[in-house]
Amino acid sequence: MTERAISPQGRPEEVVVDAALRPRTLDEMLGQDRLRENLRILIDAARARKEPLDHVLFYGPPGLGKTTLAHALSNEMGVGLKVTAGPAIERAGDLAAILTNLRAGDILFIDEVHRLGRAVEEVLYPAMEDFALDIVIGKGPSARNIRLKLPRFTLVGATTRLALMTAPLRARFGAVYRFDFYELDAMEAIVGRAARLLQAPITPDGVTEVARRGRGTPRVALRLLRRVRDYAQVRSDGIINQQMAHEALALLEIDELGLDALDRQVIGRIIRDFRGGPVGLETIAASLSEEPDTIMDVVEPYLLQLGFLDRTPRGRVATRRAYEHMGEPYPESAEQPGLFQEGK
Ligand SMILES: Nc1ncnc2c1ncn2[C@@H]1O[C@H](COP(=O)(O)OP(=O)(O)O)[C@@H](O)[C@H]1O
Ligand SMILES: [Mg+2]
Repeated sequence: MTERAISPQGRPEEVVVDAALRPRTLDEMLGQDRLRENLRILIDAARARKEPLDHVLFYGPPGLGKTTLAHALSNEMGVGLKVTAGPAIERAGDLAAILTNLRAGDILFIDEVHRLGRAVEEVLYPAMEDFALDIVIGKGPSARNIRLKLPRFTLVGATTRLALMTAPLRARFGAVYRFDFYELDAMEAIVGRAARLLQAPITPDGVTEVARRGRGTPRVALRLLRRVRDYAQVRSDGIINQQMAHEALALLEIDELGLDALDRQVIGRIIRDFRGGPVGLETIAASLSEEPDTIMDVVEPYLLQLGFLDRTPRGRVATRRAYEHMGEPYPESAEQPGLFQEGK
């Protein structure tokens, strides 16, 4: 299987580099201006009142800085950070153990918070609301409930799928923030900063070329930067200019819009095999032997952002723009694409 240049999770080689590149404070983070301004107010107000932060929830596609921001919050507040993830907390007892080990003011970061189990969520409700842990001691008729006090902590949740979160959990976050894809100027600033930190020589047009193809996602742009750096080192004098970036990205099958082979396969399938849709994403994922999660978290959000896909109640529909990008004739004769009925 070919390795994707664009994948949802960080890879091992990246962990080390990531630690060096990851912004440590709100000011070191670039882009997401409105979100950072809102958080700045939240932080300053909490600090002035000498209170812990309200519970906050971040949502948006992978690679946009949710984890980075959770770390930055703990640095800004000068408090401890405990990092875990929804799927890692299997039993209610696991969560109880984490909660009782927190110190006052600490941040508990739960990634993929939409994947917490029911029983675990139920422990979280009173913990978030009353900083209390309800536990049952004993079994049968002699069982009794006791309530333990917890330190005042801040829960920071992150999710790529807000829609999969239960309403009661969502309601317990005092602030909910959406991450958007980054604008080109922010992407350029991020690529430029990373190149400096990596001591990779790059020209301004090289920065722009990498930034443009990073699909508005810092993680992707940083990954492309590393690949382009390798290419420039092996094929030329190591200086990353537009030409080098262009050649390296062509070799990786990343097109001008930052779409990779899988993105194009998804659109291609919808257009060619499903006559433009509507078709369910699960059906497309199955037809490509891909994980539906990858299609939904990584592929779809950017295609929607580009205006290549429309969401309809019966499934996804390819737009005229998508046809044009793929060099396929748009079916003018049909009223609209979508005459094809999905067989389920
Ligand atoms: N605003 C930003 N400025 C600079 N670098 C960023 C920014 N947001 C994210 N990054 C970089 O992108 C990478 C992915 O960010 P991360 O916080 O892990 O995303 P998420 O948790 O949303 O999937 C990190 O390694 C970080 O260095
Ligand atoms: Mg993350």
